[in-house]
Amino acid sequence: MQSKPISASRITLSQMMGPQDTNSYGNVHGGIIMKLVDEAGAIAAMRHAQKPVVTVAVDSMTFKEPIRIGDLIIVSAELTYVGRTSMEVRVEVRAEHPIHGSGRITNSAYLVYVALDSDGRPGEVPPLLLETEDEKLRWEAARERQQRRKLTKG
Ligand SMILES: CC(C)(COP(=O)(O)OP(=O)(O)OC[C@H]1O[C@@H](n2cnc3c(N)ncnc32)[C@H](O)[C@@H]1OP(=O)(O)O)[C@@H](O)C(=O)NCCC(=O)NCCS
Repeated sequence: MQSKPISASRITLSQMMGPQDTNSYGNVHGGIIMKLVDEAGAIAAMRHAQKPVVTVAVDSMTFKEPIRIGDLIIVSAELTYVGRTSMEVRVEVRAEHPIHGSGRITNSAYLVYVALDSDGRPGEVPPLLLETEDEKLRWEAARERQQRRKLTKG
């Protein structure tokens, strides 16, 4: 299978947060953010694998600052590591006021997806082509995280 660079599957989703996304104090629900994080991660993984994917692991997600009604959420996802059938994706959430433009990073998380073949079984994914020193460092850190996940897998 031909290697693919990280840039080929990188993705950014943006969405305005309205009243349906917030609690009565105007703060965006954590579940809304988690759904967007999972969607962005899954799209990046699918673009890499060119197969359907399922989420198998979500590392801890902390909410550093509230996101408010009227904010634009910008969710960026890129692969950090691939195994035979699994892929780790780093997802970063930024919130930005569309008029004042003041942006801040509110969350980041690592998620693992598995590609499925036509029988619904784990299917092989293309190797990842690492193009920069940063990508190589992130790969190494991701490989260690994936080893730890395998050890603690229930
Ligand atoms: C994904 C699934 C098909 C994998 O089945 P499985 O029997 O664990 O398959 P395998 O043991 O062959 O593992 C497949 C890959 O997933 C990885 N994996 C499995 N569980 C993992 C976990 N908890 N964390 C990290 N990686 C995991 C394995 O390391 C392996 O990676 P590799 O091929 O790159 O080495 C199965 O776990 C499943 O269907 N899970 C439910 C997924 C789901 O419904 N998600 C929510 C909605 S999308």
